[in-house]
Amino acid sequence: MDLSEIMIPQDEIASMVTRVAEEINKDYKGEELIVVGILTGAFVFTADLVRELDMPVIVDFMQVKSYVGDKSTGTLTIKRDLSTDIKGKNVLIVEDIIDTGNTLKALKEMLLQREPKLLKICTAFDKPSRRVNDLTPDYNGITVPDEFIVGYGLDYDGAYRNLKEVRIVR
Ligand code: IMP
Ligand code: MG
Repeated sequence: MDLSEIMIPQDEIASMVTRVAEEINKDYKGEELIVVGILTGAFVFTADLVRELDMPVIVDFMQVKSYVGDKSTGTLTIKRDLSTDIKGKNVLIVEDIIDTGNTLKALKEMLLQREPKLLKICTAFDKPSRRVNDLTPDYNGITVPDEFIVGYGLDYDGAYRNLKEVRIVR
């Protein structure tokens, strides 16, 4: 197993965070926002993003496990639930990367049952070529090709989450 040369450098990731935060700041001006980071991968992006948001922000985390396997829909198990009640609130799910879209589609349906005022999705990276459903992020950082990437929170078997840049696993 090898890592490629740098695919997305640190400065490009930093400008992506700034651009995405500006879009969110414009859309939620003055309104409270509950930011839901999806553990573990999104912990880095969530930490960077919330520090550039200028509305009142509540940060919470959720950890889920999606079993897709031979089932076509995929089911979702909650490993750690929110400690915040999201009913009637503006909620922004923050994810590291969207691949098939199964995880977020199931999570979105689950959180919508809790009746938030508005539920949107923000992802650092998107791999739209792998999508098996109609899920689209409301805020997308960087669109990536169909490669397995690590760094900036993303792991290979638990490793490389701490890399400042993104690299491809070969
Ligand atoms: P999905 O349900 O197929 O969209 O899976 C999304 C999850 O798979 C992400 O939250 C990541 O944990 C993981 N994942 C997908 N692609 C990659 C990748 O290229 N590198 C690291 N993790 C990935
Ligand atoms: Mg993940």
